[in-house]
Amino acid sequence: MTQHRIAVLAGDGIGPEVMAEAQKVVDAVAAQFEFGIDWHSYLVGGAAIDATGAPLPEATMSGCEAADAILFGSVGGPKWEGLPPNSQPERGSLLPLRKHFELFCNLRPAQIHPGLEGLSPLRADIAAKGMDLLVVRELTGDIYFGEPRGRHGEGEQEYGYDTMRYSRGEIRRIARLAFEAARKRRGKVCSVDKANVLQTSMLWREEVTTIAADYPDVELEHIYIDNAAMQMLRRASEFDVMLCGNLFGDILSDEAAMITGSMGLLPSASLNAAGFGMYEPAGGSAPDIAGQGIANPVAQILSASLMLRHSLNEIAAADAIDAAVSQALADGCLTNELTPAGQAGLSTAAMGDAIVARLSQGVK
Ligand code: NAD
Ligand code: IPM
Ligand code: MN
Repeated sequence: MTQHRIAVLAGDGIGPEVMAEAQKVVDAVAAQFEFGIDWHSYLVGGAAIDATGAPLPEATMSGCEAADAILFGSVGGPKWEGLPPNSQPERGSLLPLRKHFELFCNLRPAQIHPGLEGLSPLRADIAAKGMDLLVVRELTGDIYFGEPRGRHGEGEQEYGYDTMRYSRGEIRRIARLAFEAARKRRGKVCSVDKANVLQTSMLWREEVTTIAADYPDVELEHIYIDNAAMQMLRRASEFDVMLCGNLFGDILSDEAAMITGSMGLLPSASLNAAGFGMYEPAGGSAPDIAGQGIANPVAQILSASLMLRHSLNEIAAADAIDAAVSQALADGCLTNELTPAGQAGLSTAAMGDAIVARLSQGVK
């Protein structure tokens, strides 16, 4: 029996709550499809700071190195916001993990599921047309990592600065993956930039156009980020692959998540050139609802499904999870944030159970 070794980094806030459900679902699907999962849990983020003083302990890094894939929850929260920047959970663990493993390609698939148009905050006639898009977000460059950055000066004169920066090579490798993805989907790439203002974006547009020549079968549209944010609300159904730099992709993926109904629905895969991946919900630790057992585990569960698909080659198991999630939602199994105001939804654990219960049904 194939055994897969998974590093589990649950982290903070709702992280451990939704992670427990993802593990429950993966254990069930592993039994069904006869493969084994060895879970190895490690401290990360605020939880690691509290226990060891550091957001990314050595044992966590070596555990990730030894694993076939990383399943990540979320990090951060008000408790650690006052720490020096590089000691904080996000800058001290999540970003270094992405950089260390060169996880430059972040895939964030967002769908309005047929029959679930009512969950979308879009106007009914627009939601009725559906949405099925893939945000391909560059994850290890841009203003997130560009140097120099810092603070300078004193008093009123003090300023903070960051550097937005992309090399041709960085743009090229993410653009290729976006075109490849579009080929397997509806054959359209919409490249998002701010080329009317930013040098980085001018280079981005130039390079994406060059790469597009190798994909004559894929339609390319360039769009400015401000217009993109608006057009996604006006004609969500028309977008297929949205190719974005790190910052613009961060913003548009939250918008895409909400168009489907909730932050708690959007999974993601962060991959490197060798196919190694970290799988993480697009949303965060949700301090406003943490500890109450009401967070939506779907984004974490679908992230685990992406892990089965992209890193572990357990395609049938991933299909089974995706089908079970869709079925549970279609059957009206909804957590609080998806139910109309004043109406109680399922708990995190009950939502996990509802998905497990539907695992065998969706499989052909
Ligand atoms: P957030 O995504 O945590 O929350 C935004 C809103 O979405 C909140 O109202 C929250 O309740 C809701 N939400 C998010 N996930 C949900 C879920 N699974 N079910 C139901 N509702 C959900 O974003 P934020 O409030 O801006 O950030 C909170 C903390 O999380 C910050 O410290 C931030 O840096 C961190 N963060 C971490 C990650 C990560 O670890 N990958 C991602 C984003 C934000
Ligand atoms: C995300 C998050 C992270 C990002 C933060 C927590 C650093 O918002 O994964 O979308 O900006 O990439
Ligand atoms: Mn984000």
